[in-house]
Amino acid sequence: MHEFSYKNGSLHCEDVDLQALTTEHGSPLYVYSAGTIRQNYLAMSQALAGLDHEIAYAVKANSNLSVINVLRELGSGFDIVSGGELFRVIKAGGDPGKCTFAGVGKTEEEIRYSIEQGIYCFNVESEEELIEINRIAATMGKVAPIAVRVNPNVDAKTHKYISTGKSENKFGVDFEYIEGVYERASALENVHLKGLQMHIGSQLTSVKPFVEAVEKVTPLAVKLKEAYGIEFFSIGGGIGIVYEDALASGPESWWTEQSEEDRPLTPALYAEKIVPTLKESGLKILLEPGRYMVGNAGVMITKCLYEKKGSAKTFKIVDGAMNDLIRPALYEGHHEIVPVKEQYDEKVLMDIVGPVCESGDFFCQNRELPNVQPGDFIALMSAGAYGFVMASNYNTRPYPAEILVNGEDAKVIKPRQVLEELIEDELEALNG
Ligand code: LLP
Repeated sequence: MHEFSYKNGSLHCEDVDLQALTTEHGSPLYVYSAGTIRQNYLAMSQALAGLDHEIAYAVKANSNLSVINVLRELGSGFDIVSGGELFRVIKAGGDPGKCTFAGVGKTEEEIRYSIEQGIYCFNVESEEELIEINRIAATMGKVAPIAVRVNPNVDAKTHKYISTGKSENKFGVDFEYIEGVYERASALENVHLKGLQMHIGSQLTSVKPFVEAVEKVTPLAVKLKEAYGIEFFSIGGGIGIVYEDALASGPESWWTEQSEEDRPLTPALYAEKIVPTLKESGLKILLEPGRYMVGNAGVMITKCLYEKKGSAKTFKIVDGAMNDLIRPALYEGHHEIVPVKEQYDEKVLMDIVGPVCESGDFFCQNRELPNVQPGDFIALMSAGAYGFVMASNYNTRPYPAEILVNGEDAKVIKPRQVLEELIEDELEALNG
């Protein structure tokens, strides 16, 4: 569920009219609904209420300080993947003691910084990293808390670039080797075995791979608790969201109208299938949802600049591009596209493309959509996760602005980048 809907013929985010907002702030523009983020967090924590658990929001999905702050206020912890993300969490007022640090390539600088700041745990992805953390902690006279990430060799059945739980992926330690790693880790003096972690992939739309992974790995977690006194088992993130019918999926009625097999993966279903097994483990369970928390809480608005009718196709050229939202180009990701103004007389088959000089720069191809005209705004739905965070300055295009909506209030949480700022340091180097 989310808070984007048409009111008085215009798309709104909560009580804010997106037509007026974009006219004021320009485009492309990211707009997030704080209310939707709160609903998502509460839906997940309520579904897991019977379980000793903690939610560690995966900051990589959307790391704007104001977004982190919304989750911090709700009591969320944070799953981070770089020293930079830890820096952001701290600057947003978050507690490093509620941060888990994942990733296969942590640098010495990042490890030192995290130990200094007192993070909750390192999620270690190889034995080599374990030895390095032990060495660095020793030089600091500290004992670093660690969990090892197990790769359970379960097929998440998602896009190959975001599938992480198979043996051929670079992540974690193979299931067959993991006990040996704990045994050797237990002999190291400057690490403390605190937990076990796994994450099988992102944008999972079926509960089955989660069930398979939880059933395979929970007995291992229990064994490690008995052998080494670990206190938590992190089951990672990965809950998928609705991309295809994103706008319709806002009202509760849409969710209940779906047939059993078409119904999206909800925290309630997820909890129903995995909580009994997890509860029996007697361990604290950590979850690392990213996309679920913020994905449907954001849209990217862009303006139609030109209509170009070729012999084969009609192109609508917009002012947003693959550098602003790369998911369609990189993962063949589908984002539902809706006009900001509700009423159009006709629908036509179109490609919506950006100004970047690559054929991969499209938001949709051969899609039948309302016949938007130059000057009209369109919204790319479900762009709150892995949208702005993956943006770049390719083609010297400044970053879009980001807005956070709270009821009637719309606040600029990151101003649009200006060209001077984009080249500032280069100019200094040139003239220095
Ligand atoms: N935990 C770990 C260790 C992860 O690697 C990830 C995501 C998460 C949690 C959060 O997963 P989520 O709940 O958001 O699915 N850019 C891609 C997604 C990359 C996901 C990377 N890891 C996309 O736009 O689809």
